[in-house]
Amino acid sequence: MKKIKIESELEVFEDFSELPQEIQRLMEAAFEARDSAYAPYSEFHVGAALLLSNGKVIKGSNQENAAYPSGLCAERTAIYYAGANFPDETLEVMAISATAKHRPTTTPIPPCGACRQAIAEYEVKQKQPVVIYFMGASGKIFKSDSLSNLLPFLFTQEYL
Ligand code: THU
Repeated sequence: MKKIKIESELEVFEDFSELPQEIQRLMEAAFEARDSAYAPYSEFHVGAALLLSNGKVIKGSNQENAAYPSGLCAERTAIYYAGANFPDETLEVMAISATAKHRPTTTPIPPCGACRQAIAEYEVKQKQPVVIYFMGASGKIFKSDSLSNLLPFLFTQEYL
């Protein structure tokens, strides 16, 4: 028996002002997207902004449903829109911001496991990593140079 160790590396930005300008603009688009969340059940508002290789920014927000599992997270709303409408573009950078309606979050909120799996699919498809920045409403921002930092032991098409 032997053990294996998996390491991930993230960059930490102390606050919004420390982000590069083009990422500030993308994160602002995520803030705007957050405002369009339809989240009457959780009152947790998530916004994702996705920069494509053609320069377009796709915004997504969480969309809930009275039949809870029928709802969809912000990140998947954005990437599936991009996949459906711009199938030949590369997904380059995703900025994510999330906050509870009545209790603004100050710590980075990571994408859920299902969203990580969905983003991973596009990394494999495009043979290029998606850079991901995520934060709460304010405070620190985490940057991952690739989804694979956030989801070790990816299940991908190579196993099928
Ligand atoms: N949510 C997202 O939009 N993205 C995530 O990665 C985590 C969770 C949404 C789903 C649901 O509408 C609400 O946040 C509470 O889970």
